[in-house]
Amino acid sequence: MEFNELIQARRSCRNFKEEAVDAELLCNVIRDAQQAPSWKNSQTAKYYVANTEESIAKVREALPAFNQKSSENAALVITTFVRDVAGFTAGAADNELSNKWGAYDLGIANAYFCLAAKNAGLDTLIMGIRDAGILRKNFNIPKTEQIVAVIAVGYGEAAKAAGRRKDLAEIVTML
Ligand SMILES: Cc1cc2nc3c(=O)[nH]c(=O)nc-3n(C[C@H](O)[C@H](O)[C@H](O)COP(=O)(O)O)c2cc1C
Repeated sequence: MEFNELIQARRSCRNFKEEAVDAELLCNVIRDAQQAPSWKNSQTAKYYVANTEESIAKVREALPAFNQKSSENAALVITTFVRDVAGFTAGAADNELSNKWGAYDLGIANAYFCLAAKNAGLDTLIMGIRDAGILRKNFNIPKTEQIVAVIAVGYGEAAKAAGRRKDLAEIVTML
């Protein structure tokens, strides 16, 4: 897909078809997401991929009812980052943002993930409303990792119109 068409086509999907997502296809999407830039190429993003009935059910325990409904039939990918690496040198924070740089890097990687998924014919929904404690317990995710989003990935029922975007004048200051 042409790049501009791709960024317009990617929309949050809340209505997935009952169609399984191939594990290898998900790995290819993650390979694309790995091309995202990161702090000193530290690549602290991690992906916990649930695409079996059992593992998906265990991720769904951590979602509120509305996100469970929106992500029905989708594979679920928990994204985390390794703490105290991005934004740090020899264990000390390089500046005031500290571990927020890890979240920053993961956000870029997750954006690449969603675009790569769309390019591969898949739709996505990033879910920030989830219970990190349940995810950590259910999948033994180490405390050294910050759990961030759960991304639903699957085949969307129908293309969605874009939500309104702010006027450039609201967000741009020309210097
Ligand atoms: C960090 C983050 C967290 C989000 N969490 C949720 C969520 O928990 N549930 C949900 O339905 N949508 C969630 N969204 C999706 C946003 O609502 C959506 O991206 C926004 O409305 C713009 O729509 P679009 O993605 O279709 O362009 C989240 C998006 C981001 C980037």
